[in-house]
Amino acid sequence: MKRTKIAMLLTAAASMDRVLVKGWVRTRRDAKDFSFLEINDGSCLANIQAVVEASAKGFDQLGDIGTGASVAVTGSLIASPGKGQAWEIKASGVELLGAADQETFPLQKKRHSDEFLRSIAHLRPRTNKYSAMFRIRAQLAQSIHRFFHERGFFCIHAPILTASDCEGAGEMFRVTALGPGPLGSEGVKADFFGKEAFLTVSGQLSLEPFALALGDVYSFGPTFRAEPSDTARHAAEFWMVEPESAFADLTDNMDLAEDILKRCIQDVMDHRPGDLELFAKWVDASLMTTLEKLVAEPFERIPYSEAVKILRRAPKKFEYEAAFGKDIQTEHERYLAEEHFRKPVIVYDYPKNIKAFYMRQNDDGQTVAAMDVLVPRIGEIVGGSAREERLDRLQARVTEMGLNMESYQWYLDTRRFGTAPHAGFGLGFERLVMLATGATNIRDVIAFPRTYKHLEF
Ligand code: 4AD
Ligand code: MG
Repeated sequence: MKRTKIAMLLTAAASMDRVLVKGWVRTRRDAKDFSFLEINDGSCLANIQAVVEASAKGFDQLGDIGTGASVAVTGSLIASPGKGQAWEIKASGVELLGAADQETFPLQKKRHSDEFLRSIAHLRPRTNKYSAMFRIRAQLAQSIHRFFHERGFFCIHAPILTASDCEGAGEMFRVTALGPGPLGSEGVKADFFGKEAFLTVSGQLSLEPFALALGDVYSFGPTFRAEPSDTARHAAEFWMVEPESAFADLTDNMDLAEDILKRCIQDVMDHRPGDLELFAKWVDASLMTTLEKLVAEPFERIPYSEAVKILRRAPKKFEYEAAFGKDIQTEHERYLAEEHFRKPVIVYDYPKNIKAFYMRQNDDGQTVAAMDVLVPRIGEIVGGSAREERLDRLQARVTEMGLNMESYQWYLDTRRFGTAPHAGFGLGFERLVMLATGATNIRDVIAFPRTYKHLEF
């Protein structure tokens, strides 16, 4: 007999004579002649209750079946006489698949702190909160692929091993096949690729040639940054969603970023309402208002110079002073989105000296056609730009920024042969999961977080 998932059973249209459920026991309560098992199989937030009477096969084993144990229960699905659930299982048999020692199983209490659960990241998906978190994360991933597919974007698998630093920020992890110890006389030539290799910080440079061939493309994969910033929104390994569109300008780019964020959030509200409710109840009381507003209202759009003016006039003391030509800090981003506009804000036209070499230079000679989307509680969630498609200007930036012209020749070829205006952005996928759930720490939205001075398993 095949097992039926609890999500299916709890939404059944009619009772069923024989079903098989497999899952993990959340609680067992014993009455005189029968026991209640609350079983969860991860298919949805809710448990199914199984009533095990003394006549059921395996009743005598119940003593070993406690919180955390995995079980198989056969029986019939009947309308529940109890409150709170439409259906329950009248068990005819219970089988213990895997016991969990009641003395040492760490998830006995109803609620644990996020910090404690991080220390047992391998067990936290067994809790209501983290199973809901990862179902929402999966929904968001699904929405991203669907969104692009519906709009005619092709998914490109950008390489993870790379020789180029896309952002030029020098925050790359080096990859080597050499053993420990000093380099020999051959230096990096003796290494696997015969030159220095790194983990990619962004798929963008690989995507641009494909956008200039297939039109609209995107990648959605892992990216790596060796930023030694131990914050609640930086991870060393994270997933990035990167669309790249030929013939698109900065406005098209902003429209696309706004659309994808709205679509993803709407999908979570439509398809995972039960999971979302948990976060609205226990994590962020204003979550539903924030999400509904995000979907319903247009994002604010302001040039960087205007953002700086607002920040300088703000009735608030910042740790870093806002000034033209300086980067906008997280505290500034949050002030704009959370307090000043109280909704997502797209800041565009940044000074060129604080942005990457590939961004399209504006006619003022000062700024580039860059844009960042800032959202309440998180700050920057999207960073992108129109790309510099003019060969001479791009070469000038490569030189000005002291990059190695030789290693960018392949990239410059896209501007030599049939160059075209194009634009794209990177959406931090973990930050999107934080936005959707109200989670305030990036460590809580990744299966096994890798952050500064922290790598487990
Ligand atoms: O703004 P970033 O650095 O942009 C790029 O890498 C571009 N090459 C993307 C492109 O245009 N195709 O990164 C994009 C987004 C950020 O807005 C942020 O959401 C996320 O990636 N991000 C991080 N998320 C978690 N941990 C980190 N250390 C992150 N660094 C960036
Ligand atoms: Mg950025």
